[in-house]
Amino acid sequence: MADKLRAAVIGCGEICSNHTLGYLNSKRYEVVALADLSPQAMIDFDDRFTEFDDYKPEHFTDAREMLDKTKPDVVSVGVWDQGHAPMTIAAAASGVKAVLCEKPMAESIGAAADMLLVCRRNGVKLAIGHQRRFLPTYTLARQMIADGAIGDPYLITSFTRDGLPNYSSHQADMYRYVLSDPECTWVMGGVERETDQWARAVPIEDKALAAFGFDNGARAAIFSGLTPESSFDARIYGSDGMIHLSVTDLKIMNGKTGGWQEHKLDGEYVKYGADNFEMVEAGAAQARGLAEWVSGEAAEYRGEGANGYKALEMVHAAYESARTHTQVQMPLQTRVNPLELMIESGHLPVRYPGRYDIRNRTLRGENVVIDTDNV
Ligand SMILES: NC(=O)c1ccc[n+]([C@@H]2O[C@H](COP(=O)([O-])OP(=O)(O)OC[C@H]3O[C@@H](n4cnc5c(N)ncnc54)[C@H](O)[C@@H]3O)[C@@H](O)[C@H]2O)c1
Repeated sequence: MADKLRAAVIGCGEICSNHTLGYLNSKRYEVVALADLSPQAMIDFDDRFTEFDDYKPEHFTDAREMLDKTKPDVVSVGVWDQGHAPMTIAAAASGVKAVLCEKPMAESIGAAADMLLVCRRNGVKLAIGHQRRFLPTYTLARQMIADGAIGDPYLITSFTRDGLPNYSSHQADMYRYVLSDPECTWVMGGVERETDQWARAVPIEDKALAAFGFDNGARAAIFSGLTPESSFDARIYGSDGMIHLSVTDLKIMNGKTGGWQEHKLDGEYVKYGADNFEMVEAGAAQARGLAEWVSGEAAEYRGEGANGYKALEMVHAAYESARTHTQVQMPLQTRVNPLELMIESGHLPVRYPGRYDIRNRTLRGENVVIDTDNV
């Protein structure tokens, strides 16, 4: 096996602790550097990984200084959404081999396109953290559908919450993954925004309904904020059967199963039922796949940037449909966030004024609110 890759982290919060655990569990990386505006965030981060020999990071409060001084091979970008493009571009320009940036890929399609362009021009591999592509149940669903186990797939439904880009970009990516990555060809959407709700400094809607059509004939529908239940589950209907998919379990019913047939799968890194199975298993498999891609052992990577772009494009197209009152034909041409356009233009006035952010619980101190001048 090749030497271990030198990994660094920008944004030492919730999700990058999963990236880091994935790097360490995959045994393909050593973690050499952290960057965060908050020194305390990095100290707290260290406490989580004391048992790992491959974890010996230097701390930096300036991400660009970290890139310059430590020259990592792979960089995780786990700051809030508006920082994804600037930090990915800074890392790509500094000469890293790969960036694993969190979802949603960026705050706009324009910024996401810039990330793809800069990474391509610098020969940098770009991955977006839709980690559920690496779950055993998701991959089993993909195989079953490709093998014709439910006939022709024609509709997938999901019940979600907390803003389409924030939460449902994962569903958009999942639809494409389980359907063997078809192109989304059209999107129709509607939103309600009675409260001034934000998620990590990005405005979100209270409720949304979004429908998608794919070039293989399948369709999908997201009900966001509309039902008491919400999850990363999906119900996949085909001409000859159906699948219920969750992050840990899959059940299938078709003419041969005689009712639901259940599958509870162990991961390659943790067993079914382990604490936080989803994040631990997917994080490690995501990290290993990235190492194989970076080192040339694998020609492709299922979490590559183009897939992250398409997931963001789908949910922003739902906003654009609401803005223009049309069925949006893909690719999406509007390069800014259409929900922001609706808010700024007065198209979507709130009924109950007063801004609140559903993710403020992760903020530290006064100076760590997402600072767009500082990314
Ligand atoms: N893939 C998933 O399932 C998943 C889950 C949670 C979050 N996310 C995504 O990950 C991103 C981060 O979310 P989180 O909940 O981990 O956030 P968080 O608030 O827990 O952590 C973000 C960290 O970034 C730091 N930071 C901010 N600006 C910085 C800068 N310029 N330089 C260095 N550090 C900076 C903050 O100090 C903070 O420690 C978001 O885009 C979110 O959508 C993805």
